[in-house]
This record gives sequence, structure tokens and C-alpha cells, in this order.
Amino acid sequence: MKPVRVGICGLGTVGSGTFNVLTRNADEIARRAGRPIVIEQVGARRENPDCDTTGVKVTADIFEVARNPNVDVLVELVGGYDVARELVLTAIENGKHVVTANKALIAVYGNEIFKAAHDKGVIVAFEAAVAGGIPVIKSLREGLGANRIQWLAGIINGTGNYILTHMRDEGRAFEDVLAEAQALGYAEADPTFDVEGIDAAHKLTILASIAYGVPLQFDKAYTEGISRITAEDVEQADNLGYIIKHLGISKRTEAGLELRVHPTLIPKERLLASVHGVKNAIAVMGDAVGPTLYYGAGAGSEPTASAVVADLLDVARDITTDHHYRVPYLAFSGIVEGGNSL
Ligand code: HSE
Repeated sequence: MKPVRVGICGLGTVGSGTFNVLTRNADEIARRAGRPIVIEQVGARRENPDCDTTGVKVTADIFEVARNPNVDVLVELVGGYDVARELVLTAIENGKHVVTANKALIAVYGNEIFKAAHDKGVIVAFEAAVAGGIPVIKSLREGLGANRIQWLAGIINGTGNYILTHMRDEGRAFEDVLAEAQALGYAEADPTFDVEGIDAAHKLTILASIAYGVPLQFDKAYTEGISRITAEDVEQADNLGYIIKHLGISKRTEAGLELRVHPTLIPKERLLASVHGVKNAIAVMGDAVGPTLYYGAGAGSEPTASAVVADLLDVARDITTDHHYRVPYLAFSGIVEGGNSL
């Protein structure tokens, strides 16, 4: 069977993880996808990536990948807003499917990108954009597809949870733990996105769009971070029987949908209180299924790569089955013309 040819743009933490997972598990992935998924080209300027690109075409020009006629799927892992937007739109214009881990891109430019993909008849998949390796987007779209979602709430920034966990458990200073999270590859290029709640607000915007079937509206989210939380706050909360967690919360209210990201006091006996370190967890309440919980690594190289490659598998199956899988992607991409306003 003809392989699906992938162009990976960006060989940072997630890019090298994706390269390694695709290479290491190639046989298993090919079996599941119904055809091999091969790396046709890499677009990256990094000198010493954490993967061995020997034998793979590497270019410093990521736009060359977006225009390469031998690439079927572009994997956007460069991050950020503007260059990523241009790259993805160029890839779509050139008839390529796109897989991205970029929550900022999807939260802010997703409406435009989905429309372009719809017009061109290609898929844009972004499981890795929310909660690292946890398949929460697929769960909302597929497993919970029958439900009217009533609310969702969770820990959706691994760096923030890592900081709060180590401040509490080891009495360490905020800046010290943040530096460690950066060294471990958890934090954003600009870590203020993590500690000021912007990254969590991006992810909450995406989750809400899919859960409620409304356009992405990042500017409607209330956003507060953890940067002002002190070791004393953490200790006081502990003495009172609570743990401070940074949550993203969205629910239906009489007035419409609510989106908010802020530190929250959680009673110690609640499940979310025991989610530690870089782990994320999202609780989703559906009217038919009741409460459900999704848990796992919220950041990091191979956990996030796991979600990227799962999207590549979906794209490969779609191509293999002559677009049998495509309908859910377009119908549940969160774009409802004139849909509810948050
Ligand atoms: N900086 C993000 C986090 C990476 O810590 O959650 C994963 O999206």
C-alpha cells in the first residue's frame, strides 16, 4: 500500500519526539493505519535535534515542506502565531492535510484555518494541542458524541501543575521550579504563557469549541495565572485542607457559556487534588454518560508526540478508506456558522 508521506516542521521537544515515535514504532503504526507513514522531509533549523535524521531530507526552509508535492501531511510543530499560521495556510493551499500541536494557533486562528481546510477538502487535526498525550479531543468528538456537554473542568497546563506540586511538596520557590520545568521541555518558549494562564486559556477555548459546537472565541475567556501564588499561600491552603490547582473551567449557564482559567482551592479528597507534577486531568460532564475523567501526561516530548502520531493515523485511515473518516473532522471542528456566542 502506498505510504502516507509526512513533512515535519520543527524539531524541538515535540518535533523530535514525533520523529522518534514514528521511526521506532513504524511497523505497529503501519499496521494500525493500513499503510506505512513515512517521513518525507523535515523543515528545521535546529543544529543538534534529539533525533537522528540521517537519511531524511532536511531543509531550513519550512515553507519548502508546505509546497513539496511529495508531502501528503504537514506536521506543524514550530509553535507561535504568525509564522505557524502562514505555514499552515500555505500547506492547506497546496492541498495538504495538517496536524498541529499548536494551541495558540488553533485558539486564535482556528476559525480561519478550519474554513480554509473545509474549502480545500483537507483535514486539520490538533489532538496534541490540548493536554499533551491525553486523547481528550478525540473523546469529546467521538466517545462523547451523543452527549449534550454540561461542563468541563481540569488541569490543562503541565508546567503550572508541576510548579504548584513542587512548591507544595518540597517548599521550593516558584522561579526555581519554573526553571526546572523549562529544562525538562514542559514550558512554552515564552513561559509567561504557562504561568499567566494564557496557555490554559488557549486550550480551554479549543475544548469549549468542540464540547459545545461553537466557534473558537479566545478573547471571551477570563484568564488569571499562578505567578502571584506564594509558598505561604500554598501552605495556608494546605492547613485548611485544600490544594491550590490552576483550573480551566467551562460550563453552560443561563447567560450563555462561561470560560475561565484561574487558581482554585480544591478540597484534598477530590480527584483533581491528587493530580501531581506535569500530569493533566480533565473532567467532562455529559447529559447521557454523566461524569467522565481523562488523565495523563500534559506536556513533554513523547507524550505530546503520541497525540501527534495518533492524528497522523487518523489522516492515514481517512486517505486509506477514501475519506470515510473525514466527516467527523469537518463536522466537529467547532465551526458553526452563526453558532452560539460565548
Ligand atoms: N507548556 C505546555 C504545558 C505544554 O506545560 O502544559 C503542553 O501544552
